[in-house]
Amino acid sequence: MCGIFAYLNYLIPKKREEILELLVNGLKRLEYRGYDSAGVAVDSAASKDISIIKKTGKVALLEEEIKSRSNELDVSGTVETHCGIAHTRWATHGIPNEVNSHPQRSDPRNGFVVVHNGIITNYKAVQTFLEKKGHVFESETDTEIIAKLIYHFHEQHPNYSFRELVENVVQQLEGAFALCFKSKYFPGECVATRRGSPLLVGIKTATRLATDHIPILYGKEHRPHGRGEFPTLPRTGSTSEFEPLEDKQVEYFFASDASAVIEHTNRVIYFEDDDVAAVKNGSLSIHRVRRGGDDPHKREITTLKMELQQIMKGNYDFFMQKEIFEQPESVINTMRGRMNFENGTVTLGGIKEYIPEIKRCRRLMLIGCGTSYHSAVATRQLLEELTELPVMVELASDFLDRTTPVFRDDVCFFISQSGETADTLMALRYCKLRGALIIGITNTVGSSICRESHCGVHINAGPEIGVASTKAYTSQFISLVMFALVMSEDRLSLRQRRQEIITGLKNLQHQIGEVLKLDNKVKLLAEDLYKKKSLLIMGRGFNFATCLEGALKVKELTYMHSEGIMAGELKHGPLALVDETMPVLMIVMRDPVYNKCMNALQQVTARSGKPILICEEGDQETMSYCQKSLEVPKTVDCLQGILTVIPMQLLSFHIAVLKGCNVDCPRNLAKSVTVE
Ligand code: M6R
Repeated sequence: MCGIFAYLNYLIPKKREEILELLVNGLKRLEYRGYDSAGVAVDSAASKDISIIKKTGKVALLEEEIKSRSNELDVSGTVETHCGIAHTRWATHGIPNEVNSHPQRSDPRNGFVVVHNGIITNYKAVQTFLEKKGHVFESETDTEIIAKLIYHFHEQHPNYSFRELVENVVQQLEGAFALCFKSKYFPGECVATRRGSPLLVGIKTATRLATDHIPILYGKEHRPHGRGEFPTLPRTGSTSEFEPLEDKQVEYFFASDASAVIEHTNRVIYFEDDDVAAVKNGSLSIHRVRRGGDDPHKREITTLKMELQQIMKGNYDFFMQKEIFEQPESVINTMRGRMNFENGTVTLGGIKEYIPEIKRCRRLMLIGCGTSYHSAVATRQLLEELTELPVMVELASDFLDRTTPVFRDDVCFFISQSGETADTLMALRYCKLRGALIIGITNTVGSSICRESHCGVHINAGPEIGVASTKAYTSQFISLVMFALVMSEDRLSLRQRRQEIITGLKNLQHQIGEVLKLDNKVKLLAEDLYKKKSLLIMGRGFNFATCLEGALKVKELTYMHSEGIMAGELKHGPLALVDETMPVLMIVMRDPVYNKCMNALQQVTARSGKPILICEEGDQETMSYCQKSLEVPKTVDCLQGILTVIPMQLLSFHIAVLKGCNVDCPRNLAKSVTVE
């Protein structure tokens, strides 16, 4: 997904080389989001113009391009105040090439330049209007209309401030966006805004800020007026327009997410939809055109707890590999302060006050996409068992397509690692509008889903950089199990069941460590499989989610076809795929569906299939049916999926490495899918 990074230094002398390095490094931190081209815009050395440097492919290529143009860019020159903007693009409108990369510009003289994350849905109409006014478009992007529209307003209203021009532009845009603007007409200024796509600003001053918030300045209630298709807003006046920060020497880092900012500062402000943030004369101000119903009067400055090393690879070759091996710790972090193993109690601080209301609800709805959806599939059976409520599990996109009926007495969970997934966020807003209680299960503090939920559980898995979700899945799984435990705390009849689950959770860290010891064995299996075209993964009951999740991992990382098959469905179609050449992996645990799984295993072997087994440690009898098996420790049935999914994570990882695939950024995918 596109990534925005912008850097503004005010009264802090910096070499151009340093500024360019800083911009490129910001982009490198955003690489994990997925992208296909990159670009930067900085002030030109010789004139008051803006230089744009863009490159298709990796940020490293952009870096080389910048180096090759170091004379022209006067990299040794120093600037005291400067604004640079940068971008990684994930193509939506128009192929990945340099013209379509961002920054996009208003005109051949680069009067205004803009970087954009999201999609403008009405860009065709705006483009037609601008073309009639004589603007000539050079790219196939939706973003170019933004650069040209601001230029159009500037020509119409030369006295408008940069911020006022941006406010006028966003009035005309439909869709989702985070935007960062730079202009040669407003040197040393930066304006940023968002609607539907994430954006934050990091603030760095030499001394500690005297304030912990930035007041919001509201425009007067008014209707746009003026002539033509795009009526403009009246000027909002200059009274207290810019609340100065205490310290005048200041640096600002605008970014799509905190990973690009954290090495510079841990003081950040997360923008809300329709905030327009402007930096002028070194001061940051946040404006909103209209006062909404429950808009607060300020934006808090948040202190990030995230450490840089948390988002680095450590001793591993790939982020995904590091994240798989972090699971013994990440599951503990999810339970820390919540599970009391001594007295068998569970406290979820973020939803505690809502538990009585949740207990009275009509049904639970669990909504997410991809891996997050699978965590709902994995825990549904336990939630039904411990809450005795109907539990619906939904893919966010399908849920919205169906305009599913939702009621005030529904409790809706929105599960998302990033907290920014567009489909999940839209489903959240849909349910919120209908009066349901909204619970966010996310890994990203300050994300849109976090902020827009009534309450929630932060899964505390730590930053997940690899596009393939691994540790977030096991932490989402545990968070939902803990919720089920909270819901059943006063049920005497469930006392024993709850206790065995609590004991299971206590042993998880050690058992995950044991599963990770299978790494070499899994690698050998990967060597057998990596040249195959397909892999079928079969199971049922508590382990069906592992089949779906395992197949998703194999597909996204190795580009090999893979399908998670409910073993009970074999005879209804999938069995036709099975012969002596088709790779099959089966999960057969000694749980209530063991006999049914054995039946499926026999159906496969009877068709000359040679399944690889994931089974319980020491289960010789089951293993005697197959040539190859991976043994995992036994835990309570409803937690077994946490231990069976890890060999699947390792297997997909090793196949991807053997095939030479890009493990951390698989082709065509992005970490955070902020468009529909
Ligand atoms: O950030 P989210 O959990 O909302 O993301 C949802 C999916 O896009 C995500 O889980 C995706 O399926 C993963 N890349 C799978 O590994």
